[in-house]
Amino acid sequence: MRFPIWMAALAALTLPILALPAAAHAQGASGSAGETVFNGHCKACHEPAIDRAPNRATLSTYQPAQIVDALTNGVMKPMATGLSDADKQAVAAYLTANAAAPQTAAAGRSPAPAPVGVDVKCETNPPIRPTASDWTSVGLDTSHRYQVNPGLAAADVPKLKVKWAFAMSGGSMPTVIGDWLFIANRSGKFYALDANTGCVRWVLPDVASRTTPMIVKSSVSPSGWLTIVGVRDRTARAYDAQTGKELWRSPALHANPVVGITGTPLIVGDQVFVPLTSGEEGAARQPSYRCCYFQGALVALDLKTGQKQWYTKVIPETLHDTHPNAAGTMQQGPAGAAIWSAPTADAKRGLVYVATGDSYTDVDTKGADAIVAMDMKTGAIKWSTQVEAGDNFIVGCTDKTKPANCPSPDGPDYDFGASPILFHLASGKDVVLAGQKSGIAYGLDPDSGKVLWRQKVGGGSSLGGIEWGMAADLKRLYVANADTVNLIDEYLRPLGKSPVADKEPPSAPGLYALDPATGKVLWKTPAPAAPCHYEGDRSRDRSGGACIRAQSAAPSAMPGVVFSGTMDGWFRAYDAATGKIVWADSTTDRHYDTVNQVKNQPGGSLDGLGAAIAGGRVYVMSGFNGAANTGGNGTNVLLAYSVDGK
Ligand code: HEC
Repeated sequence: MRFPIWMAALAALTLPILALPAAAHAQGASGSAGETVFNGHCKACHEPAIDRAPNRATLSTYQPAQIVDALTNGVMKPMATGLSDADKQAVAAYLTANAAAPQTAAAGRSPAPAPVGVDVKCETNPPIRPTASDWTSVGLDTSHRYQVNPGLAAADVPKLKVKWAFAMSGGSMPTVIGDWLFIANRSGKFYALDANTGCVRWVLPDVASRTTPMIVKSSVSPSGWLTIVGVRDRTARAYDAQTGKELWRSPALHANPVVGITGTPLIVGDQVFVPLTSGEEGAARQPSYRCCYFQGALVALDLKTGQKQWYTKVIPETLHDTHPNAAGTMQQGPAGAAIWSAPTADAKRGLVYVATGDSYTDVDTKGADAIVAMDMKTGAIKWSTQVEAGDNFIVGCTDKTKPANCPSPDGPDYDFGASPILFHLASGKDVVLAGQKSGIAYGLDPDSGKVLWRQKVGGGSSLGGIEWGMAADLKRLYVANADTVNLIDEYLRPLGKSPVADKEPPSAPGLYALDPATGKVLWKTPAPAAPCHYEGDRSRDRSGGACIRAQSAAPSAMPGVVFSGTMDGWFRAYDAATGKIVWADSTTDRHYDTVNQVKNQPGGSLDGLGAAIAGGRVYVMSGFNGAANTGGNGTNVLLAYSVDGK
C-alpha cells in the first residue's frame, strides 16, 4: 500500500526558519554536485514523481536535514547506496535551495524551507481533566470512530465554522481529552495544544511520527495521563501527556530502515500493541534491491517499560532466496503483509485483530490481504483469513516500464488499510467488519474468522477502494470509497496520458451505509463533483491538475451524523439515516492565518485518518500529502470547527 510515506515520514521541522549556509546555496545552483546526484540517483522516481514518491515541489519544502536523514536512516537508504555524506548534503541543498519563502510572521528572510510557523506557548497549562466527550484514540471503542457525546447536536452541524487553524508539515489525526489536543507529525514535532485556542502546551522536537497519540489514564505516568506514539526510527515511545516528559522508548522494533509504524499503537490494560509496515514495496523499484524481506508483524510491549513481550509475524512461511532478477540481484520471499492500521481489541475473547496488506513477491503467502486474530497474552494466531490470494505488488509494475523486481503475475495491490471494527449486533452476536482497497467490505465471525458476508461498493484500485477507514454507530457501518487511481485514469486516459498500462475499473467514489449483519447497502451518496481550489498541489505530476473527488479518508460518526472528506478538499456531514449531505465546506476556498502565525496558509486534500469529534468541536487535517500525489502542498493545516466558529 502506498501509504504514508506515504504518509511520508519526515524529520524535524524544529527551527522556525533555518537559513542555509552560503555554501549550500552555491551547491544549489544548476550544474552543481547536487544536481548531478539528483539526476543520477533520484530523478527517475521523483521527476516526474512515481506513485507515492514526493515530487520536486514537495521535496523543496523539506529541510535539508530531513532529506539527508531519509537517505541515511530512512526509507530512501537503499537509494543512497554508494553516495557519500557530501553527496547527500549536496542533493539535499540542491532540492531545497529554491524553495519559495512562505509568508510567516518571520518572513522576509528567504529562501526558506517549509512554513513552520511560530509555536506560541499557552500562558497556563491546567491539569488534564477528562470529559464524557473526549476522543482519546484513533478509533475509539473497538475502532468504531463513533463519538457518543459529541458536545454538539446534529441540528447544529450545518452551523460549523473554522474556529482556529494550525499549520504543520505532515500531520496525523489528533486526539482530544478535556482542553488538551495531541497531534504528532512526520516532520518531527509532537504537540500538545490547547483545544480551545490552538496555543502550544508543549512541543517535542524530535518525534517524527505518523500515528495518532492514544491517551490513557495510567499510574506509569507521574501525572496519571500517558500517551504513546510510533516513531520513524521504529521505536514506540511513551510520554507523560501532561508534561511531555519521555517515560520510555522501546528498542527499535525492526532492523530494516524501510520498516515503519503507521498504524497507531493500541494500549489495552498493561500492554501496547504496535503494528509494523514497510516502504519496501517502494524501495523494491530499485533493481539492486534484494526484494523483499519485510514480513508484517504485530509487537506487544509492556506498558510499564516498553520491553517486548511478543512479536508475531502474520506471514507464517519462512523467508528464502528465490531467483535472480533481470539485473542479476537475488530475490527472496515471501514478504509483505504490512499492517497499516491500528489493531482492534476484543476484550471478551482476549483477542487483538489486525488487517494486513499485499504480498511483495510471487512467493505464496497466506498472511497477505488477511484479517488476523491473535491472543493478546501470547501473540498466538487464533485465526487468519486471507481474502485475496496472489496479490503480489511492488510500486511501478502497472507503469508502462516495469521495474526488475516485479512479481509475476502481479496483483492489484488490494491491501487492507483500515482498522477492523468489532461490532455488536442486535441479535447479540458480534461481527468483525473489514474494508479493503478492492472496494469490498467484509463481515467475519470473530470466533472462527469465517467470512459471513462481502459487499463490493467500488471499482477498487491500488489507492482504494476502501482505503483508510470505516466508521460505525450502533446501527450502521459507514464505508468511504476512494477509487483514486480509477478517477485519475478516467481523467487522463482520454488525453493519452494515463500513467497505468491497464484500464482501471469504473470508479464509484462516495459514502455508503451498510447493514453490519448482512452487508446490505442501506444508502449510498456519490462523491459530488465540486469546485476545487487547492494550490501548490502535487496533482500535476499524475493527474494533469485534475482535482480528484476520491473519498479516501476514514469517516467519523456522532449520533445522527457522519463526517467524511474528499481529496478535492471538501469536508462534509451526512445524515446518518439517509445519506443526505447536511453540510459541506471547501477547506481550500480560503486561506488561513494560523494560530502558529503562518499567514495565508492554503488547505489541500482531505485524506488519511479523518476527523476527531470532541467537546463540541470537529478537528480535521486539510492538505494531507499522502499516497496519491494529489492535493497536498507540503504543509497541512489542522482545522478546528465549532458551531458558528465560537
Ligand atoms: C527507485 C525510485 C526512487 C529513487 C531512485 C529515489 N526515490 Fe525517494 N522516494 C521514492 C518513493 C517511492 C518514495 C515514497 C516512499 C514510500 O511511500 O514508501 C520516496 C520518498 C522520498 C523522500 C521522503 C521520505 C520520507 O521519509 O517521507 C525523500 C526525502 C526522498 N525520497 C528523496 C530521494 C532522494 C534525494 C533520492 C536520490 C538520492 C531518491 N529519493 C531516490 C522513490 C525513489
